Amino acid sequence: MPTTVEETAVHAIWPALLQLRAELATLAPDARCLMRFRPESGVFRRVDSYGAPAATGWLVAVGPGNRGDAATAWPVFWELPVAGYRLAVHVEPSLGPEFLAVLRLYLPVLLGAHGARIGGRVFVTGHVAQSLDGRVACTNGHSQWISNLANQKHSHRLRALHDAVLVGSGTVRADNPKLTVRHVEGRHPTRVLVSGRGQVLELLPSRAIFQDAGCVVLTGAEIPQGLPEQVRCVSLDVDERGHIATANLLNVLAASQVHSVFVEGGPATLSSFIEEGTLDLLHLHIASMILGSGSSAFMLPEITRVSDGPRFRCAHFGFDGEVLIEARPERGS
Ligand SMILES: NC(=O)c1ccc[n+]([C@@H]2O[C@H](COP(=O)([O-])OP(=O)(O)OC[C@H]3O[C@@H](n4cnc5c(N)ncnc54)[C@H](OP(=O)(O)O)[C@@H]3O)[C@@H](O)[C@H]2O)c1
Repeated sequence: MPTTVEETAVHAIWPALLQLRAELATLAPDARCLMRFRPESGVFRRVDSYGAPAATGWLVAVGPGNRGDAATAWPVFWELPVAGYRLAVHVEPSLGPEFLAVLRLYLPVLLGAHGARIGGRVFVTGHVAQSLDGRVACTNGHSQWISNLANQKHSHRLRALHDAVLVGSGTVRADNPKLTVRHVEGRHPTRVLVSGRGQVLELLPSRAIFQDAGCVVLTGAEIPQGLPEQVRCVSLDVDERGHIATANLLNVLAASQVHSVFVEGGPATLSSFIEEGTLDLLHLHIASMILGSGSSAFMLPEITRVSDGPRFRCAHFGFDGEVLIEARPERGS
């Protein structure tokens, strides 16, 4: 049975998750701390102490080898798997299942991003919204909107939780996305466009990603003169197909202090992260509709044996009648 994600529970927890993200972003790698969160007027926020008796809430223990204190006798709910470093979330046993569902959905992103920052790497989350028959767009490229409003809000939350949001040039051509955070509270991520051949830069005056908040273009093409100051182009090596290795893309971002990236599509872009083993987490939303034809959610090289397909550990979440699958790659499969 999928764990249902209720909008009211998300509203109650979201300010605390934004606060946790901000606190973790400024924490030195050798710092130890204990952050407690509890509800005040129905909304969870960070508090200095729990007082007694302990209120319903959770706490986050962070630091190298941190064993926590007496309060961490509460069970561990989610833990960062990094040797020699402890980032564990402990929940008070009476915290309701509606809140646990929200924590379970978003903590892997937050903690994964922090672990990547500590390790000097980039945590990569992918998202795709597909129809029941595995399509993400009509044959003519039209794709807005396949998923329900609950999922659109969820994807804005993922934007707000990551340092950057990244798309391929096909999505910028077809959808003209803004890639800003509008449906929920939160800061806009750095917007990253990948275009090995760089032809999408010809669309500069007409595409929203090049306006306002600015964006970074990662390309193998020659960088045009006279770009607006909000567009930063970085030139990278491409192979004979015009492809940039995703590890190289991530190295450039890590050097700019971007330690978490939300890959929002399309299929070609997301698939190259899967193929090259650089994806940490996939959120696959299944909408309650059939397209019958159109683009597939993934574009990976053909395999001839089922056992050669990449495998994932999955969890399921209900989103207002539709389903989101969280898939974590089994490394080495
Ligand atoms: N339902 C959903 O969740 C969803 C989400 C997003 C998009 N979409 C749909 O998906 C369609 C677009 O997807 P798509 O697969 O055709 O295109 P895409 O993945 O958006 O873009 C592919 C292009 O991006 C560039 N690119 C991506 N990774 C690269 C790399 N590692 N190195 C170099 N260049 C790279 C290349 O551009 P150059 O050719 O310029 O080199 C490549 O041709 C649209 O119809 C859109 O509506 C659906």
